[in-house]
Amino acid sequence: MKNIIRLNNGVEMPMIGFGTYQMPPSITERCVSDALTIGYRHIDTAQCYGNEREVGLAVKKSGIRREDIFVTTKLWGCRGFKDTLSSIDTSLAKLDLGYIDLLLIHEPTGDYREIYRAMERAYQEGKLRAIGVANFLEEHFHRLLQSAKIVPAVDQIETHVFRQQGAMGKILKSCGTVHESWSPLAAGRENIFRHPTLSHIAEAHGKTAAQIALRFLYQKGIPVIPKSTHIERMKENLDILDFELSSDEMETIKSMDKGKSLFAWW
Ligand SMILES: NC(=O)c1ccc[n+]([C@@H]2O[C@H](COP(=O)([O-])OP(=O)(O)OC[C@H]3O[C@@H](n4cnc5c(N)ncnc54)[C@H](OP(=O)(O)O)[C@@H]3O)[C@@H](O)[C@H]2O)c1
Repeated sequence: MKNIIRLNNGVEMPMIGFGTYQMPPSITERCVSDALTIGYRHIDTAQCYGNEREVGLAVKKSGIRREDIFVTTKLWGCRGFKDTLSSIDTSLAKLDLGYIDLLLIHEPTGDYREIYRAMERAYQEGKLRAIGVANFLEEHFHRLLQSAKIVPAVDQIETHVFRQQGAMGKILKSCGTVHESWSPLAAGRENIFRHPTLSHIAEAHGKTAAQIALRFLYQKGIPVIPKSTHIERMKENLDILDFELSSDEMETIKSMDKGKSLFAWW
């Protein structure tokens, strides 16, 4: 498998990205710079993280060509068509990177069909390379499809070894929408970094439990965006391409699915 996934409009997105949720603006530029230096080429931010400006600064100062870095951001609290167009322009100004690679609606609240219609307009104007959604489960996703002219390129949903989202993943696949994982390390919950099942498999491969959790999703074709403020962990989370989980190991991890959210959001 290549380290790239092709979206439904042909745009290529790196399979392993870098998350920035709960990363204070004061350290975001340093963390994103570290991530870019060690090889990440996909950064995930959002309006409500309050760190778009710092993400943009790190990208601009990296010396890496703009077209070689994939930046996602997410809309928050928009109130209809016009408001969304101006909100997109605000994100564009804060990031100051010329365009946004992937813009998502952060959650299915408000008049998300109108919000999406404005995103379609901005996409057609060349401000966005791809558009999609986050936290849209079956009901909201189908409702959006009824009015959307452009099928969402991505749905970013809670996905990790404890909530694998098999049914939703099948729906997204059948629509040509990429199923992307948020909190691929379960945000450290359920003792994931010392989980006996993951640790046992990790030992056999000379890897860590975190790497096994990420590799499981990667091997299923699900892009991941782990977050860390520590460069050693950033490296660890990127270093999942030189081994393969056997089908027995994949089955064992499959059985860890609890089928429900660890966060009680969506
Ligand atoms: N669309 C949405 O609604 C939504 C919701 C949640 C998250 N997201 C996105 O998904 C990204 C990832 O999710 P997340 O930040 O919630 O959680 P996560 O990436 O699953 O886990 C991050 C936590 O694990 C720790 N960690 C990371 N790598 C580690 C390693 N190798 N060993 C030990 N500890 C490690 C981090 O601590 P340190 O920082 O101290 O290393 C942090 O506490 C977010 O940053 C955000 O971009 C999107």
